[in-house]
Amino acid sequence: MSQSIIGAAKPRVDGPAKLSGQARYAADHFPANMAYAYGVFSTIAAGKIASIDVSKARQQPGVIEIFHHGNFPHLHRSPSSFASQTKVDETRLPFEDDTIYYGGQFVALVVADTFENARDAAHYVDVQYTPSEPVTSLSQALQKNGSKPSEKNQHERGNPDGAYQSAPHKIEATYTTPVETHNPMEMHATTASWNDGDLTFYEASQGVVFAKNTIAAIFGINPARIDARSPYIGSGFGSKLWIWPHAVCATAASRELGRPVQLMVPRHQMFTTTGHRPATQQKLRLATDDDGKLVSISHDSVNSTSFVNRYVETCGVCTSSLYGCDNVRVTEGTAQVNQGTPTSMRAPGAAPGLFALESAIDEMAEALNMDPLAFRKKNYTERDGSQDKPFSSIHLMEAYDRGAEKFGWSKRDPEIGSMRNGTEILGWGMAACNWDALRQSSHARVALRADGRAMVSCATQDIGTGTYTIIAQTVADITGLPLDRIDVEIGDSAYPSGPISGGSWASASALPAVQNAARKAVDQLKGFATQDGATYADASTDKLSFDNGTLSLEGGESTDYTAVLKGQRLAEAFGEAYTGGDEKKDGYSYRSFGAHFVEIGWDPGISRLRVHRVVSAIDVGQIVNEKTATNQVEGAIEMGIGMALFEATEYDHRSGMPVNNNYAEYVVPTHADSPESIDVVLLDYPDYKLNELGVRGIGEIGITGMAAAVANAVYHATGKRVRDLPIRIEDLMRT
Ligand code: MOS
Repeated sequence: MSQSIIGAAKPRVDGPAKLSGQARYAADHFPANMAYAYGVFSTIAAGKIASIDVSKARQQPGVIEIFHHGNFPHLHRSPSSFASQTKVDETRLPFEDDTIYYGGQFVALVVADTFENARDAAHYVDVQYTPSEPVTSLSQALQKNGSKPSEKNQHERGNPDGAYQSAPHKIEATYTTPVETHNPMEMHATTASWNDGDLTFYEASQGVVFAKNTIAAIFGINPARIDARSPYIGSGFGSKLWIWPHAVCATAASRELGRPVQLMVPRHQMFTTTGHRPATQQKLRLATDDDGKLVSISHDSVNSTSFVNRYVETCGVCTSSLYGCDNVRVTEGTAQVNQGTPTSMRAPGAAPGLFALESAIDEMAEALNMDPLAFRKKNYTERDGSQDKPFSSIHLMEAYDRGAEKFGWSKRDPEIGSMRNGTEILGWGMAACNWDALRQSSHARVALRADGRAMVSCATQDIGTGTYTIIAQTVADITGLPLDRIDVEIGDSAYPSGPISGGSWASASALPAVQNAARKAVDQLKGFATQDGATYADASTDKLSFDNGTLSLEGGESTDYTAVLKGQRLAEAFGEAYTGGDEKKDGYSYRSFGAHFVEIGWDPGISRLRVHRVVSAIDVGQIVNEKTATNQVEGAIEMGIGMALFEATEYDHRSGMPVNNNYAEYVVPTHADSPESIDVVLLDYPDYKLNELGVRGIGEIGITGMAAAVANAVYHATGKRVRDLPIRIEDLMRT
């Protein structure tokens, strides 16, 4: 066995296909006789449809059919259940009735012979509305109707209020984060084809198994008749986890019309019907004793949700366990606004939650006149107080130390505005990061072929993160075959059931199943080799070793394994992981950890704010591929900078319609906004309690805490504590 392939900085095996344009995304499939669908979207955020006149639209060139609530086929709402793998955040089906719950809701669907004709005809659909007063923001919703507490994810231990009252040092502050919209490069799209009651659909999806099961539930058919495909995805950040209305629209139109239909969601619609991170309002109260030991933490949050479904942003998800403290309360609640239904966005709960918590920790350290790193170390814990269990593997202290060392934290002058470089005031801030280490049951198939290649298949996906590559590395590790002789098949629900590409679950779930299947395939090969009449007919299989494509008998001869497969088509096996147990029942809490250190520069003369450099030390278990892992954290840091300084979906407070619903006005960091250096330190301690590979998953942790680290650095430079994201230069110009 070659150990070195696990952890190696291998380039993406799917890179050439992407660079050469051979990688085809959901809207790059053009089945014969395909028609194109384009939505007509509500121009009001609340009210009723008074009338829809399609007569003029019908006369436009190429129009085939126009659907709306008067003629759309009857379908079934899918249950939203992780256990049944039919999760859907907006359970309302498109065109269910004439009620408008949010701006941009589908009110009609035009199907035409070309994309251009469908889009053009959509403008001729005449929809008249009876508007009512929309609720346009979280604060307005709270004022008007208050919030509803969430039943789930609440936590209380000890006596947080009593301990707060009697403590000598305390802070209380409220933090807010705005609606943020996922903006993956690839637009959402569905290409659906029915054939004799069987459905094949290409969907920009982070979970083909869930997509298959959810569409099966909605259309009331056997999931076995559906093939959901998502071979390549131009990222998703959570917006492509579950089925949204456009997929139902395209699939239904295709069935009604008896021909393939493609629907690509235009960018502006991705601000309304495919989810967003909700707005949050979070009240933090922290108290310590005279030594700086936390004695009380409470974190009470509310988030915006739609009038259609309830989505809870679990802002307190890290607060209950990140620091050692006996008196802790976490509550979450929701308030309804006339917006589409929110959904998971990279590190849901933790990203806004740790902005609030890690800002509050900085404020508490300041109140104690303590260094913020020293304050965190003082309150370090190796036990998850919310579950009263030890963490399975924690190296947060080392993350603090190595990050601080690399950054030069010991040279920080704590005095506000004291560090300068030319005309700029420098600010140094830091924050902890934290995320769940989750996993779900997974299956995989590995086959060794007589032509010297191996095939591996699993119904998981690569959302641009490196899944193809690390699955190939896992097979290479067991078989010794080079990566270019391993064919990875993922992104198709026809393969053995695999994990969603979300929640940082895919690696920790899929790789152990792949490893298991690869081992069994090698066993199968050895079985063939020792059959009657085979090369090692009389040998016992445990005397045979397999390495680099060669079978060797202990103290005897070696054979290329392909010779053994002559006459046998494949040495093939299925593997699985976590199919039986419930990890929550065992004795550990599984989480990942890390720390960000950030330098910002504030030039008051020209009101310029820049993030100069970031050092992040990350503890996520075994690193499978140093290159793709580093890349994940770098991307998350950029996204965290976006969260800190730029991103906010703005709604017109009169109409409730999103205003900056395009790439030009929804501001994300460009290269010019990026730090001169991002240093990612991967600690690389395998977590063998989670799985045999020691892998936890790395997709989300890098964004957690990042906005707080920036805000804390801004405070250090300017003395301005910005508690409402994004931080705008106007906040810093105020005197
Ligand atoms: Mo992630 S928000 O689970 O794609």
